[in-house]
Amino acid sequence: SAPVVIAIDGPAGSGKSSVSRAAAVRLGYGFLDTGAAYRALAWHALQHGADTSDATAVLDVLGDFDYAISLDTTHRWVRVGDVDVTTAIREPRVTDAVSGVARVAPVRKAVNELFRRLVASAAHEGVVVEGRDITTVVFPDAPVRILLTAAPEVRAARRSAESTDQDAAKVAAALHRRDAADSTVVDFLTAAPGVEVVDSTHLNFEQTVDAVLNVVETTM
Ligand code: C5P
Repeated sequence: SAPVVIAIDGPAGSGKSSVSRAAAVRLGYGFLDTGAAYRALAWHALQHGADTSDATAVLDVLGDFDYAISLDTTHRWVRVGDVDVTTAIREPRVTDAVSGVARVAPVRKAVNELFRRLVASAAHEGVVVEGRDITTVVFPDAPVRILLTAAPEVRAARRSAESTDQDAAKVAAALHRRDAADSTVVDFLTAAPGVEVVDSTHLNFEQTVDAVLNVVETTM
């Protein structure tokens, strides 16, 4: 039978990725970081010298976007063609380009189809799928749907703590810019009907994972 889907959405710096992965580890499920797919496409577009603010240019490079991602929580990798881009997709130049790529509607449609196929063919009993529109667009019928939030100042503080950039104000500004751009495409700041909110503002990492697993237990 098809794997169970745990859908988790949230803004940048909410701890979404690390929390979702830890929850998947505890459940013995696979993990799909959908942001990594958008990042891989942004990397691919930059590789082709495409202007990522130009929808037509982005659509042009989508044609030969050959992308693969691991669902394995312990061995994570992302590949474009035969290039391992696992670390390259975290570079600031990719982060700066990704919102432009992600706002192209046909891109989202193609990528979402990819996500559904990937999950349907997974060997796992379940998959934790994390992103911006997973609870609303990609898997609106998932048995567990969670919106992970945190106060903007807390998200900025967490991001600058994990960043090598010493300038906290710069990190906060970049985070705000990306959230603003992304929220014109999908609303990931308010929960859709039936979506459970987990607010991590006053929780540490372990407590947030516990809160997510608590929702899973009470919903499934
Ligand atoms: O989660 P992460 O910060 O890695 O996501 C990178 C970018 O991918 C986001 O800024 C957003 O533009 C895009 N994204 C999206 N929809 C998703 C996941 C990510 O538009 N489901």
